[in-house]
Amino acid sequence: MILVTGGAGYIGSHVNKQLHKKGYKTVVLDNLSYGHGDFVKWGTLERVDLSDIDEIKRIFKKYPLEAVMHFAAFTYVGESVENPQKYYLNNLKNTLNLLAVMLEFEVKKMVFSSSCATYGNPVEIPITEDHPQNPINPYGRGKLMVEEVLKDYSAAYDLRYASLRYFNAAGADPGGELGENHQPETHLIPLILDAAQGRREDVKIFGTDYSTPDGTCIRDYIHVTDLADAHLKALDYLENGGKSEVFNLGNDNGFSVREVIETARRITKKNIKAVEVDRRAGDPPVLVGSSTKAREILNWKPRFDDLDEIVRTAWQWHQKI
Ligand SMILES: NC(=O)c1ccc[n+]([C@@H]2O[C@H](COP(=O)([O-])OP(=O)(O)OC[C@H]3O[C@@H](n4cnc5c(N)ncnc54)[C@H](O)[C@@H]3O)[C@@H](O)[C@H]2O)c1
Repeated sequence: MILVTGGAGYIGSHVNKQLHKKGYKTVVLDNLSYGHGDFVKWGTLERVDLSDIDEIKRIFKKYPLEAVMHFAAFTYVGESVENPQKYYLNNLKNTLNLLAVMLEFEVKKMVFSSSCATYGNPVEIPITEDHPQNPINPYGRGKLMVEEVLKDYSAAYDLRYASLRYFNAAGADPGGELGENHQPETHLIPLILDAAQGRREDVKIFGTDYSTPDGTCIRDYIHVTDLADAHLKALDYLENGGKSEVFNLGNDNGFSVREVIETARRITKKNIKAVEVDRRAGDPPVLVGSSTKAREILNWKPRFDDLDEIVRTAWQWHQKI
């Protein structure tokens, strides 16, 4: 049985679905602070907060757990700058709580949601796993700290992990059962789709004078179902005795903000108003990863790797929420 923390959230719920498709049983641990109870359509939901170590122990006593997939975290980069304590307590301290209980109950496999935010401003594109990690905000620093903790625990306690550094998760379950519904929303594609639906007046383009072909920022979008596939592969890898590793998960290509808006206009057939405003602090012009390592070691290959497919599945979902 697999424990999926944060499994009522965007990415965790897609992974939970995929785990069930592959025949795993799951327990979703989520406090529903940002998650959605109705995203937990598979397995058992335990409404628990990771700050409560006794409650975590109760879960480990109750279910025969073999591994943990750890998605639970706060995810707003801007908020992490304004209120770092909130981020270090949840994303770092609560992860230490979870790890302490895992060690106590001898559950020694973890797949961890890390982030390309651990790299900070890229010095080289595409970003490989060996790229220097100099995060530029508390959110990214907290993720890096957990990676470091995992490295030490792995060496000392025989725990094995896969830290998966996601680039921009996007798209929705092609079966239409799940999708992205962050409150508040900060991700580009759902913001564009909100504008398509008239839920917001326009979408802002932050900076049009970057050193990119059309002047707008370029990001690597990875379909959430492809992310879910990679988690299953990472779990297989650990179950087959694989050693602790970090893997980038992206599409190995990038799209500019303008390209994403154009694609959304074409797919939704809506007139999406875009407003050009100044650059935002802390946005690197280009963030594109190399996922060669995951492709080679995990034998993973994204299936939904074109932008049309990402936007099409996101739009199919977005019209339901
Ligand atoms: N969305 C992305 O593009 C992206 C990119 C890189 C990394 N990540 C990481 O992936 C993970 C999942 O991201 P997401 O976009 O699905 O976010 P999300 O907010 O949709 O999911 C996170 C879930 O964790 C739960 N949670 C938070 N704190 C908790 C706690 N203390 N106890 C129990 N449950 C708690 C929330 O209720 C929510 O359901 C996060 O760790 C995030 O940092 C996401």
